[in-house]
Amino acid sequence: MMTMQLRGSKIQGIGAYLPERVLSNADLEKIVDTSDEWIVTHTGIKERRIAEDDQACSDLCIPAAQQALADAGISSDQLDMVIVATVTPDMAFPATACIVQDKIGARNAGAFDLVSGCTGFIYGIGLADGLIASGVYDYILVISGEVLTRVTDWTDRSTCVLFGDGAGAAVMAPTEPGAGVLSYVLQSFGEHGDLLKIPAGGTRQPLTPELLAQRENCIRMEGHELFKLAVRGVPDVAESAMAKAGVQASDIAYVVMHQANKRIIDAAAKRLGIADERMVVTVDHYGNTSASSIPIALDEVYRSGKLNPGDLVLLVGFGAGFTLGAAVIRWDKEPFAT
Ligand code: ACO
Repeated sequence: MMTMQLRGSKIQGIGAYLPERVLSNADLEKIVDTSDEWIVTHTGIKERRIAEDDQACSDLCIPAAQQALADAGISSDQLDMVIVATVTPDMAFPATACIVQDKIGARNAGAFDLVSGCTGFIYGIGLADGLIASGVYDYILVISGEVLTRVTDWTDRSTCVLFGDGAGAAVMAPTEPGAGVLSYVLQSFGEHGDLLKIPAGGTRQPLTPELLAQRENCIRMEGHELFKLAVRGVPDVAESAMAKAGVQASDIAYVVMHQANKRIIDAAAKRLGIADERMVVTVDHYGNTSASSIPIALDEVYRSGKLNPGDLVLLVGFGAGFTLGAAVIRWDKEPFAT
């Protein structure tokens, strides 16, 4: 009987796209009863990007994907699969991934969307790793794109100050076993699903004029409860992924965490014993871009020229579901020439 030789997967290319329009805390002060001081001290956010009215999720995903493909040095027709992790697709169906697959010319690829809240990119990396390591596919494009500001209740100050729009993408490719993605851990705690949701617009509560008037088609979040779950869960899932990879916190060059709140990042750094300068922070200038925040932050640290071959990068996500995920990656790309 033939045994299949397992191989590894790595990030061969990375890219991001942020809309140009900036919404500052001062702008928000004009919309709801809030202040720059409250937002900065409670979240660390100073500004965020907002998609133009004619930009849907796929419009953000496409430039991020094209940048990742250029960075990977492959063409779109070499892709075997396009995965879009999003909670804000262009429409319920067809999948946003199919729209992207068509528009980038990935004519040999399958395509599907993945809904794991803000943990979506790590779920995508895990899936891609499994498909590549098994030898089934060679090149998989994992994109996270979100237009959260379109499902934001602009009358709810407890949520509308948090979110921003953006997309990030990674081209996953084969590598030798023991390189690239060293481990990943994907978790779900569906019992906490009610803490973060868009209540209406699905088959449970189809949209009615009454539900629309109550803005039940927008994000509803129990922020304080989620905060506690995140602060407890992030170090645990990160430690599981590091143990699986056989590495320790002191080995990690950079932690790229979901960018929801600077206080959650600080708490995780403390619990994990990782120095602040090793924690990548973009939440101050992009806010919470849900599933996109991890690839956007990874792209930013890469393009700053700070990532070197051999560096260990720890990705950690948490979000709607409630989901948690972490991955340890041994970076093998040359530093980006700045
Ligand atoms: N401006 C001014 N005051 C505000 C605002 C605001 N924008 N928002 C809330 N407040 C008030 C509240 O009304 C409350 O007032 P009260 O004490 O008089 O009732 C007070 O501030 C404190 O409210 P809390 O909700 O307890 O504030 P907290 O310190 O927990 O911060 C926050 C809220 C920022 C939402 C925080 O809980 C958080 O970041 N939670 C985690 C969010 C998250 O990680 N989500 C999961 C990821 S999912 C995703 O990323 C899509």
